[in-house]
Amino acid sequence: MERTLVLLKPDAIQRDLVGEILSRFERKGLKIVGLKMMQLSDELLNEHYSHLVGRDFFPEVKSFMQLTPVIALCLEGTDCVNTVRALCGVTKAREAAPGTIRGEFGMSVQANLIHCSDSLETAQVEVPRFFKAEELFEYPDALINYVY
Ligand code: PPS
Repeated sequence: MERTLVLLKPDAIQRDLVGEILSRFERKGLKIVGLKMMQLSDELLNEHYSHLVGRDFFPEVKSFMQLTPVIALCLEGTDCVNTVRALCGVTKAREAAPGTIRGEFGMSVQANLIHCSDSLETAQVEVPRFFKAEELFEYPDALINYVY
């Protein structure tokens, strides 16, 4: 069963969209196996966004991500990485499809409400970056999670 990392960014917190976004993941049938609020350190952001370090917008990404705490989520489900990406919509929120989280609520590439892992390989690095093993839980599924 796949797991993926989601961060609810400061704009989701400031705009009171946490419940709306969590509800979309829950209603889809994804299982929350980890959930916590975190104030992100410089060190963690440098690591998480290491592929952006040379970009001119990198300092803004860091200060934006530190405006408020974020909510880190680990979601589990069949084909979870791609399913979450589809629910979120593309990074450039203005271009995100109607019906997706960014498509419904976002206008910005930076304040695009959520971060989600972009591949299974990335998820396998990002989940342990944000969650210790003891912060992730295993518990029985509802029947909705049976997939054929
Ligand atoms: S890229 O441009 O394709 O290498 O970037 P990507 O890996 O898709 O993710 C970019 C993340 O940086 C945030 N961000 C911006 N991206 C592009 N342009 C600007 N100006 C910008 N400002 C911030 C963007 O929200 C992506 O964050 P995550 O958390 O990965 O969604």
